[in-house]
Amino acid sequence: MTASRPSVRPARPFFSSGPCAKRPGWSAEALQGAFLGRSHRAKAGKAKLAEVIARSRAMLGLPDDYRLAVVPASDTGAVEMALWSLLGPRGVDMLAWENFGKEWVADARDELELADCRVLAADYGELPDLDKVDWSRDVVFTWNGTTSGVRVPDGDWIAADREGLAICDATSAVFAMALPWAKLDVVTWSWQKVLGGEGAHGMLALSPRAVERLEAGPPPRPLPKIFRLTKDGKLIDGVFKGETINTPSMLCVEDALDGLTWAETIGGLDALIARASANFDSIASWVDRTPWIEFLARRPETRSPTSICLKLAGSDADPKALAALLEDEGVAFDIGAYRSAPPGLRIWGGATVETADIEALLPWLEWAHDHVQTRG
Ligand SMILES: Cc1ncc(COP(=O)(O)O)c(C=O)c1O
Repeated sequence: MTASRPSVRPARPFFSSGPCAKRPGWSAEALQGAFLGRSHRAKAGKAKLAEVIARSRAMLGLPDDYRLAVVPASDTGAVEMALWSLLGPRGVDMLAWENFGKEWVADARDELELADCRVLAADYGELPDLDKVDWSRDVVFTWNGTTSGVRVPDGDWIAADREGLAICDATSAVFAMALPWAKLDVVTWSWQKVLGGEGAHGMLALSPRAVERLEAGPPPRPLPKIFRLTKDGKLIDGVFKGETINTPSMLCVEDALDGLTWAETIGGLDALIARASANFDSIASWVDRTPWIEFLARRPETRSPTSICLKLAGSDADPKALAALLEDEGVAFDIGAYRSAPPGLRIWGGATVETADIEALLPWLEWAHDHVQTRG
């Protein structure tokens, strides 16, 4: 039986995995209070940056002795700053199971040309064998692989007494999944993901052991100014208090504060996690009852509740055509699989997406699938 054309549309057809949907009710009015046309180093400008740091760490429950900074160049900037600043003194295990992990492998192996670099890789849909990780080494991994929808299930595999540093790209995970902070030495993210902020800036969290490494001596390579976190062997304290390395966008800063205010209003981290879980559950029960669709992530405990990646099964419909049709209809934007991932669909389930909109999307997916298939 062919699915009939649904009558209800998602109120907000924004399902992109980054930049992600703005928070419900957002409009440019939210940026009224932005500190524009002024120096970000003026007292009030710096205070806004310090506020992003303070309110982010409070919401996420960062340990008191962790440092948190706003850094340039989004999540990539934060990750690469960490890799260039920290890697070298120990061997490193690089974990990769989708596009972004592979990018960090390319950095460590091909750009930094680290002498002792071991790659633990897995195909799209799978995780590498986490039991093989050697915690006497530094370990670089992505908490949530945004392009395969595969996440690490928890932090149980991370040694509490590790000698190396656990360096974690958490950009699609933070504010959506519980992170075991004490087991992570470097955590990075950007603003345009779960809280629906604007792209441009990254966040970099450092454990005391990561700071110790930074202060133990300069890395065996020149560092551009944009990556430098120490001066004369000491951490540059100001960077962790809102004195950014270079000029930030105060419009983006205002928007990041707006996202935090919204998140605080709805109940903080627990509420954010609950919203992502509800979105995931809605899609999971549809996948259960729909013969032509499957999760790309094979093991249920590794399925991401934010970047929900699906593949077609037993269907000759082209997922690109399906996504394009729904985009043309204005009911779902940006739900095609990432360009280097296997063909399929990717639906963002982070907190700024309303479950009602996911529910409204599902019949459209059925309709589009039938339509694309019928048309051949
Ligand atoms: C896991 C992961 N790492 C890194 C990036 C790159 O982030 P950015 O564009 O913020 O630098 C992304 C973007 O989607 C991502 O999902």
